[in-house]
Amino acid sequence: MDLTTQAAAAQAPATAPTASASSPTPSSGGTPSASATAAPASAVGRSSAGGPASGTAAGAPLRLALVVGSNREGRFAPVVADWFLERAAAREDFTVDVVDLAEVDLPTALSGRPGAAVRAELSKVSPRLAAADAFVVLTPEYNHSFPAALKSLIDWHYTEWQAKPVGFLSYGGISGGLRAVEQLRQVFAEMHAVTVRDTVSFQNAGQHFDSEGRHRDPAAPEAAVKTMLDQLAWWGTALRDAKSRRPYGG
Ligand SMILES: Cc1cc2nc3c(=O)[nH]c(=O)nc-3n(C[C@H](O)[C@H](O)[C@H](O)COP(=O)(O)O)c2cc1C
Repeated sequence: MDLTTQAAAAQAPATAPTASASSPTPSSGGTPSASATAAPASAVGRSSAGGPASGTAAGAPLRLALVVGSNREGRFAPVVADWFLERAAAREDFTVDVVDLAEVDLPTALSGRPGAAVRAELSKVSPRLAAADAFVVLTPEYNHSFPAALKSLIDWHYTEWQAKPVGFLSYGGISGGLRAVEQLRQVFAEMHAVTVRDTVSFQNAGQHFDSEGRHRDPAAPEAAVKTMLDQLAWWGTALRDAKSRRPYGG
């Protein structure tokens, strides 16, 4: 099932370009090298740049943006993303938009006055981050941290993250991506975001999914994703309600 397209089709197109860099401080990051991990065909990576409309009434499903944090050639990310999207689609408390870093090319050199080419790239993602009520960040672990492309996306934005909950879906080798997640918690605190306690983590991920993207022993990850999404729903609803009464003051 093409879950990415299904999710995007239910939502309004992205709005006008927004250049939302809030910090002129340049960032830098490592360059992930290629590895041999191959991924089966996936809906992720083929999505259009659709995004949710802004403004949601209380009681409406929360608009959840899944941020796919790996853009590595041959990446495993789509397997985990599709697994998650299938679980999220079964819930009535969320609508899901997929913000895939393989579909956006943001420079690591930040600018308060980005040129046309950078504004065009930002227009693919910024309105969709702004419209989200909650985020799930899908991250692998590279050298005990998270991908440089993900840091770049975070740094190019600021208010888009504020007073919103963030859940983590991680994978990697022996660590299951948990070291990347712990670092992301520090980064999102600086963004005034609220990270939820429970994560979904896949250790040695490539070994645990079959060639169709099915998890070989699904009970534990099924329970973990329910817990994480329940926490995200609580925080997302609470923060949306609070912001409707009083704007977040920063
Ligand atoms: C440059 C690089 C560094 C990595 N470093 C770690 C690491 O520190 N810890 C770990 O558990 N796995 C590490 N791995 C394994 C990756 O987490 C694993 O291959 C994962 O599938 C990468 O995600 P991707 O395929 O979506 O890019 C590394 C992989 C790469 C390519």
